[in-house]
Amino acid sequence: MKTIIEPFKIKSVEPIRFTTLEEREAILELAFNNLFLVPAEGVLIDLLTDSGTSAMSADQWAGMMRGDESYAGARSFYRFEAKVRELTGFRYIIPTHQGRAAEKILFSITGGKGKFVPNNSHFDTTRANVEFTGAEAIDLPCTEGRDPDLIADFKGNMDLEGLARFIRNTGRSNIPLCMMTVTNNSGGGQPVSMANIKATKELCARNGIPLFLDACRFAENAYFIKLREPGYEDRTVESIAQEMFAHADGATMSAKKDALVNMGGFLAMNDESLATRARNILIVTEGFPTYGGLAGRDLEAIAQGLDEIVDEHYLQYRIRSVEYLGERLTREGVPILQPPGGHAIYLNARKFLPQIPVDQYPGQALSLELFRAGGIRSAEIGSVMFGKYDRDGKLIPARMELVRLAIPRRVYTQSHIDYVIEAVLDVYKRRSELRGVRIIEEPPILRHFTAKFAKVE
Ligand code: F0G
Repeated sequence: MKTIIEPFKIKSVEPIRFTTLEEREAILELAFNNLFLVPAEGVLIDLLTDSGTSAMSADQWAGMMRGDESYAGARSFYRFEAKVRELTGFRYIIPTHQGRAAEKILFSITGGKGKFVPNNSHFDTTRANVEFTGAEAIDLPCTEGRDPDLIADFKGNMDLEGLARFIRNTGRSNIPLCMMTVTNNSGGGQPVSMANIKATKELCARNGIPLFLDACRFAENAYFIKLREPGYEDRTVESIAQEMFAHADGATMSAKKDALVNMGGFLAMNDESLATRARNILIVTEGFPTYGGLAGRDLEAIAQGLDEIVDEHYLQYRIRSVEYLGERLTREGVPILQPPGGHAIYLNARKFLPQIPVDQYPGQALSLELFRAGGIRSAEIGSVMFGKYDRDGKLIPARMELVRLAIPRRVYTQSHIDYVIEAVLDVYKRRSELRGVRIIEEPPILRHFTAKFAKVE
């Protein structure tokens, strides 16, 4: 059969509340035009993030009941540890309450003023955790990854020449570690090839710099390698993932993505002294080393989720359903970042709304209109999220102005996606009428979460 179906039956459902246009306009006004401030009940289809929004399986829920809540040495911890070790091969596995907690621990040990951390592209919390220590976060995406229209297999790759130059100019002693984000979320959910991971590792190893994977979406990345990289077509996704981890010295993981849970994460590594220091911080900030910031039941659900995520029927459905959304929008001329990523479609707001200057945040304007028109919540990944100001208070815009439609795992069916397509096309038809926004209030760090906006008349 050619039709790809959702590889699950639905046992438990959650009703969606329908809203009228007038209700949605009122919701936006109350939320100061920031979709992070909109109560989820007012959202029809929530594509804000694929993080922590997965539907758990019957086996994961069963695991929740099996969870051992002992403070020290819980059975659930050993199951979790064994699964993560089998998958990653790392010696020391440290549970944390989510990805950024792992980042916080890692960079508070390795970061600091005068230090630099290169990455194919930092996610916002990774960047914030690096910068919080006084270190600098450097993005080194490959050339293909900088062109939103180019179709290429591995646009998430690290710029290897750029990294070599960067290490030469900065001095290896100022680079405590190098990160590699798979898939590359800020770069459009694009995969990184095994060849690129391997070459990055070799370059780092020659310079005595450890390589850490930011592994939130490792299974989606591994599946893209299977589909696109010669030599991997007959390998299991699990063995491809194992090979990816084998090229690294450690990893941070937000289990809220490719471990199919609503909360959780880990920090893993081979270096014993680093692990000891990490555990010392863990005890102060998260919890005892056999639970980190999590309950025993959460550890069970993660272990089970890591088993399920490498299922190839699941990954085929997952990657194809995102691609389907991308294909249909592209066919109608809607500018999206090409090709479709693993977990999301990124609308190219700069092209979608060329009449709106970057300092009036076209991505924010587009995401607000998608909500107003269709009750769809998306995320701006552009100058609201990554913009900075120069000394004169002028905006230094982000490299791209994107609106991310992130697809939660196992939550929506094809007809939900068809509805999203209809809503985007409706807004696209009316695009010339849209106006920008200005910021009326903002915090100094991670401003997209809480900033307030007004529409430009
Ligand atoms: N790294 C990447 C690549 C991420 O995408 C995220 C989270 C994190 C680290 C942090 O993990 O949320 O568990 O603390 N990304 C979410 C998103 C929030 O919407 O893309 P966390």
